Amino acid sequence: MKRAMSSTYMQWAKKRSGSRYNLATSGLRSYSLAGLPVTIEDLDPLSRAGGYGYPPLTEVLAAHCGVAPENVVTAAGTSMANMLAMAAILEPGDEVLVEHPAYELLLAALGYLQADIRRFSRRAENGFALDPAEVELAITPRTRLIVITNLHNPSSAFATEEQLRPIGAIARRVGARVLMDEVYVDAQFQLAPRPSVHMGPEFVVTSSLTKVYGLSGLRCGWILAEPELARRIWLLDDLFDVNMAHPAERLSVVVFQNFERIREQSRALLDTNRVLLNQFLASRTDLEVRPLEFGTTVFPRLLTGAVDQFCELFRDKYDGTVVPGSFFEMADHFRIGIGGETGALRESLEKLGVALDEFGKSTDSLTVAVR
Ligand SMILES: Cc1ncc(COP(=O)(O)O)c(C=O)c1O
Repeated sequence: MKRAMSSTYMQWAKKRSGSRYNLATSGLRSYSLAGLPVTIEDLDPLSRAGGYGYPPLTEVLAAHCGVAPENVVTAAGTSMANMLAMAAILEPGDEVLVEHPAYELLLAALGYLQADIRRFSRRAENGFALDPAEVELAITPRTRLIVITNLHNPSSAFATEEQLRPIGAIARRVGARVLMDEVYVDAQFQLAPRPSVHMGPEFVVTSSLTKVYGLSGLRCGWILAEPELARRIWLLDDLFDVNMAHPAERLSVVVFQNFERIREQSRALLDTNRVLLNQFLASRTDLEVRPLEFGTTVFPRLLTGAVDQFCELFRDKYDGTVVPGSFFEMADHFRIGIGGETGALRESLEKLGVALDEFGKSTDSLTVAVR
């Protein structure tokens, strides 16, 4: 089995996704240090003694998630949390069921771990809703792990407890676990669901402060798992890390102490931005998508023309970016992120509209020429 050694999406995200009219980012604008009640002295001392995690952070995180500290492993972002959780659960060749469409990094990490990847569908015609019947169809006695994002990246579809509980039961039946990447779930402000680890020991949750709070720079990620697995993950982490950057750990504690305020700021921004997005979507006859109810991204289908060509036009002529659907194995879609400052989002959507109009005209004339 060939071992994946890189991620094409991450290379694109790092080198090609930036632009003046950036609709490619899935997280919120960067949160300002000015929003946190800290002084530089609060970051002192810059280093700490060893041990597994920084107890003030582990404790505040455990309280935040409604679990015991023994259930918590801290990690450098959801990315490292996913890698550690998968690596601790899987042996090379183990069968893993991954949603389709999926965030490419999950597939790349599983490829690196030499997992035997199988897929189950989240169907565009159902708004990419999670369907336990699809998991049931794809599961085999060899399945060791089921991988789901909630909210779904790229569509922001929300997986409810009613959908997840049967999937937990299916996993339990074959002795598999369910890895829930919940990095976007806090953008479901209304229901504010509890981390799915509460649904049973087969659920393993990963998340971070990156997306919904615009705090990617802290790399404050975590895994929630039953204590025995959490302990194994800590031991595996010894191979990669001594500990996280301590000033970031200290700042992360401050974030949790001020959580409600920061959460309300995110909620207000997304509430405003979602209205702009939905107005934009309603004005487009060339895009097929449902209005966004919550979340930071939407994944429309472009009804005419090739998305990759459109993305090239948007980048080269308008200095704008969206994420091509090919990164999610659905080449006729693209992903729009709405987490920017409202003024910037408004301008970016306007530019996207102009670029789509131009692209539509060019594909019309092509169609006429072919006729
Ligand atoms: C589903 C999903 N998980 C994890 C990440 C990475 O999160 P972090 O910055 O916390 O590592 C992303 C980033 O796009 C994502 O979409």
